[in-house]
Amino acid sequence: MGVINPPPATLLPAIHRRYSTRVFSPRNVSKEQIEHIFHAARWAASSSNEQPWHFIVAARDRDPEGHTRIGSTLVPGNAWALTAPVLGISVARTTFLRNGRHNPYYKHDTGAAMALAALQAVEDGLNLRQMGGFDAAKAAEVLEIPEGNEAVAAFALGYPETVEAPAERQRKLIEDVLFGGKFGQPLV
Ligand SMILES: Cc1cc2nc3c(=O)[nH]c(=O)nc-3n(C[C@H](O)[C@H](O)[C@H](O)COP(=O)(O)O)c2cc1C
Repeated sequence: MGVINPPPATLLPAIHRRYSTRVFSPRNVSKEQIEHIFHAARWAASSSNEQPWHFIVAARDRDPEGHTRIGSTLVPGNAWALTAPVLGISVARTTFLRNGRHNPYYKHDTGAAMALAALQAVEDGLNLRQMGGFDAAKAAEVLEIPEGNEAVAAFALGYPETVEAPAERQRKLIEDVLFGGKFGQPLV
C-alpha cells in the first residue's frame, strides 16, 4: 500500500489537512454549507467542459428519508457511514450532451469534481469520505437516476470528531508514481 511518508510541508494547506474520516460529530450541516462544498466541485475541469456530474445529497436532519435511501445502497462494510449527518452519491452522464457519443472521461471528471469537494470540505472545517462500497444498480433504482447516467461513488460528509489527519497515513513513493518519458523511467 505504501510507506508512512508525510507530504511536503509546502503543499496546499487543504491537501495537507485532508483525510477521510469514519468518525463524524453529530453536528448538522446546513444547506448553505453543502452548497458551498459543491460549488467547488462545479469548478473542476472536465472534458469539453461537459460537467458530466450530478450529486444527490441528503442531510439527515432535513431529509431523513433521503438519508435512509442513500444509506440503503451502502455495503455492510460501510455501515459506519450511517452515523454521518450527510450522505451522498455522485452520478455521471456517460455520453457527451453535444453529440451523444460515449464520454470516456465521465468517471475521471466526476472523481476530479469530488476531489475538489473533499478539499473544500476540509477548508470549511468538514470532512468528506468517498465510498466505492455501495450498490450502484440499487442506487439507480431507489434514487431514480435517469437512463444514460451512472452512480459513480457514495460519500459521507460532516464535521469530523477529530480535525487532525492521523499521523500514520501511507502513500506510495513519488518515484513509484511519477515517471519520465516512458512508463517506469525515472523523471529527469
Ligand atoms: C473511489 C473511492 C472509493 C472508496 N471506497 C471506500 C469505501 O467503500 N469505504 C471506506 O471506508 N473508504 C473508502 N474510500 C476511502 C479510502 O479508503 C481513502 O481515501 C484512502 O484510504 C486514503 O486515505 P485518505 O483519504 O485519508 O487520504 C474510498 C475512496 C475513494 C476515492
